[in-house]
Amino acid sequence: MKALILSGGKGTRLRPLTYTGAKQLVPVANKPILWYGIEGIVAAGITEIGIVISPETGGEVRDRTGSGDRFGAKITYIRQDAPLGLAHAVKISQDFLGDSPFILFLGDNLIENELGSFLDRFEKKQLDALILLRPVENPSAFGVAKVDDAGRVLGLVEKPKDPPSNLALVGIYYFSAKIHEAIAKIEPSARGELEITDAIQKLIDLGQPVESEQIEGWWLDTGKKDDLLSANQIVLDAQVATDLNGELDEATKIDGRVRIGAGTTVKNSLIRGPVAIGENCRIENCFIGPYSSIADGVTLLDTDIEHSVILRDASIAGIQQRIVDSLIGQRAKLGEALPRPKALRFMVGDDCQIELV
Ligand code: DAU
Repeated sequence: MKALILSGGKGTRLRPLTYTGAKQLVPVANKPILWYGIEGIVAAGITEIGIVISPETGGEVRDRTGSGDRFGAKITYIRQDAPLGLAHAVKISQDFLGDSPFILFLGDNLIENELGSFLDRFEKKQLDALILLRPVENPSAFGVAKVDDAGRVLGLVEKPKDPPSNLALVGIYYFSAKIHEAIAKIEPSARGELEITDAIQKLIDLGQPVESEQIEGWWLDTGKKDDLLSANQIVLDAQVATDLNGELDEATKIDGRVRIGAGTTVKNSLIRGPVAIGENCRIENCFIGPYSSIADGVTLLDTDIEHSVILRDASIAGIQQRIVDSLIGQRAKLGEALPRPKALRFMVGDDCQIELV
């Protein structure tokens, strides 16, 4: 068994962050989304992993993620010259995949369930495809499946205007090598992509066994800001244990589960968990409220913040109002430490949003 993680694509929905970086490297609880997928795959006993990368962000994905040693895996990087679809990404990975069955894992998906139990069912029943489904309120934003009572898949359609059910395809699929024959028989969709949904439909049309399993735990497709904040909230809730490194002065109060990295200094602040703070941050006169993740090298002075994600080396100083539900990009600078600022002066990048709520 091998695994193929898709970490290419354009990431348009997380712009402006994804103008300069891969969306799969945006952190959840201070760890890149992609790494949760790798860890889940390794936990299921799979160590041969291919990662599909794009020309624009592939270098960063490879530099940060490495050869796989840190995960106990062997990672092969596969370059996709243009984002021509999920099935196209599988097609260009055939040399890596060979005749092996594999898990296809979309690098911006996070699930609570372990991958191993689904793998057992896929192998025991000798399926050609096992897909994971979850009921959603907005099926039109996803691939949608129709299934019978036994979980056999009757049909699938990608982002339908008129969905045949409320069961969305989760971005995790189990395939036998038969999927390559199906991909060879499909044409690009109206949006110009080779759709994996169409390839699975082709397997069904050819009479191959395709089944589904509905997942019970949480599933997050971290395509947009609010999805990312929800993912951050759920993972902080589930995984943060108190671990205080760095230097905290006596006026600082820690309440609840808080993780602070080495080299970080905290003065005269209240931090109410669950919160994850990285290494080498400087935090003074702040309130940091629940569900905040502060990455390495961040400076926060005279700032109130909660339910927000701050990326590496950003700095925020002296904003008078509490910052909530926010996603702040790498190296961004907000505010000056003036006691009573009289005006606001911005240099805001393309596609940014500033809301006064
Ligand atoms: O998240 C679940 C959904 O994922 C499914 O319900 C849909 O059926 C499936 O098509 C997919 O839809 P998205 O619109 O979310 O796919 P997206 O374009 O965001 O791509 C998913 C991941 O695959 C993302 O990490 C980027 C990567 N990718 C995408 C394309 C189109 C590639 O590596 N290469 C590509 O050509």
